[in-house]
Amino acid sequence: MKANTPVSRLVSGLALLVALGAASAFGAGEEVVMHKDPNCGCCGKWAEHMRANGFKVKEIPTTAMSAIKRDAGVPQALGSCHTAKVGGYVVEGHVPAADVKRLLAEKPKVAGIAAPGMPMGSPGMEGPYQADRYDVVAFDADGKSRVFASH
Ligand code: CU
Ligand code: CU
Repeated sequence: MKANTPVSRLVSGLALLVALGAASAFGAGEEVVMHKDPNCGCCGKWAEHMRANGFKVKEIPTTAMSAIKRDAGVPQALGSCHTAKVGGYVVEGHVPAADVKRLLAEKPKVAGIAAPGMPMGSPGMEGPYQADRYDVVAFDADGKSRVFASH
């Protein structure tokens, strides 16, 4: 068994470490800076969801959310409660952490992604009601948008 030398074991071990490192690098430790209204409860729950999925989240309470959204370039039709930024992207509303990780891994040429409105059953919007079907939509600086993920 020529392949099973200490050196080849070391090489495959290192390759595994590199692969694991690359996988966890997306999201883990990445800082999410989120603006939210101080009275928004579901916003804090979304922040907890992101932390539970390995993100650092800095919450900035502000009463100027519409100005924040305008400055961030969030198309009005895609607006939700909080507006966050991570890795140079805008993340609007209750977007699942898995979608944010995919965004950071794939790095598409978009300005950001949004979960428009406040879909029931999205992260931070769990409750006794039946979960909505909803799309996470990618948008670019020209206001063009496309479906990024469906839930
Ligand atoms: Cu909300
Ligand atoms: Cu919110």
